[in-house]
Amino acid sequence: MNTRVLTGITTTGTPHLGNYAGAIRPAVRASTQSGVDAFFFLADYHALIKCDDPARVARSRLELAATWLACGLDPERVTFYRQSDILEIPELTWLLTCVTPKGLMNRAHAYKASVDANAEKGVDPDDGVTMGLFSYPILMAADIVMFNAHKVPVGRDQVQHLEMARDIADRFNRLYGGDFFVLPEVQIEEDVATLPGLDGRKMSKSYNNTIPLFEGGAAALRAAIMRIVTDSKQPGEPKDAESSHLYTLYRAFATTAESEAFRSRLEAGMGWGDAKQALYEKLEGELAPMRERYDALIANPARLEEILMAGAAKARKLATPAIERLREAVGLRNLNAGVVKKAVKAEKASKGARFVSFREKDGSFRFRLMAADGNELLTSIPYADAKLAGAAMKRLPSEATLQVQADGFAALLDGATVAASAPGAAIEAAQAALDSLIGD
Ligand code: TRP
Repeated sequence: MNTRVLTGITTTGTPHLGNYAGAIRPAVRASTQSGVDAFFFLADYHALIKCDDPARVARSRLELAATWLACGLDPERVTFYRQSDILEIPELTWLLTCVTPKGLMNRAHAYKASVDANAEKGVDPDDGVTMGLFSYPILMAADIVMFNAHKVPVGRDQVQHLEMARDIADRFNRLYGGDFFVLPEVQIEEDVATLPGLDGRKMSKSYNNTIPLFEGGAAALRAAIMRIVTDSKQPGEPKDAESSHLYTLYRAFATTAESEAFRSRLEAGMGWGDAKQALYEKLEGELAPMRERYDALIANPARLEEILMAGAAKARKLATPAIERLREAVGLRNLNAGVVKKAVKAEKASKGARFVSFREKDGSFRFRLMAADGNELLTSIPYADAKLAGAAMKRLPSEATLQVQADGFAALLDGATVAASAPGAAIEAAQAALDSLIGD
């Protein structure tokens, strides 16, 4: 089976040069590799979390679809679709929501950042926080596991979301006792270009320092380049290429030899005006043919709609049978499909990691943490009373810190040891078992 690589693009803005060099160009190139099945989609449900301006969402979907295609994405080769055309995704989101502990979502960076900002302002912690924002990682998990993606290329800010997707998928697999989902791996793009914006900070919509990719045509591209901040050195004065944003931008689009030549000219005193003109010509050379395709696509939304609907049909060929299997697994079954078995309480405990409590001869209470495979991981200290043992057991998954010690490892609560490792147990296995029990 080919490696499935999947990534989503939130449809809230107009793509700029930084998006192109940092995300679009590398993704389009990667999608042509052999042995890879690429899935690219417009995350338009995610857009609704961030943006309540319908015109902006609608325009962004159009611009992003046109941009990716104009930049060379081949919809025959890649599965290219809109998230909101895959009806199975919100359905899967609900199935996953029902197995996701609230405590896991409480830890999401984006949610915590909102809560912290509210605390600083002295308002209610959840002020302005929608359930969309809170559940954002579950929708993202559904995007990924719907297609059993193996690899998910994203920026660093998305790493936690990927960990959550793995966690949620793993819980579902254990709870319903099957390999329903592949656990996805994050793929951090280490060496893609991060472009400086007009003011030298990272090019970003939020800094208002972007160079447009296609919108506004060659004139807007040139006008933006002319606004790039430089030092005040005059023509004829030698310039330091390394500290110049112009040079960094140029390099992201030129061959090594071209970059070297550009650098020498700067060092020999090329004026900033001429340097900007050279950068403009370099960029225009790469972008002009794509812009032509972009303009043609924007002018033909019916064609774009057709391409995206064909992509959705291709994606749903996989999603429809997958969701049927999942509905079956959770008990949303056709009543007519044979005798419906009388409910037997699923033996949840035998499927995943679990705690077992026991009583010592001296009357004290203890518990053990067992791995899914039945191996013993931790044994607690003796407690005088079953309630205390129960309380410690409850707190352990989300609150314990594991600490390596001379003869194994220990689990600590409030700085005090409450359980010690079993002989031969691995700390990673104990951590994984505890993680899997959060919220149980
Ligand atoms: N959250 C991602 C971002 O902001 C976009 C996204 C939504 C995504 N669903 C995804 C990325 C699934 C990868 C896989 O960049």
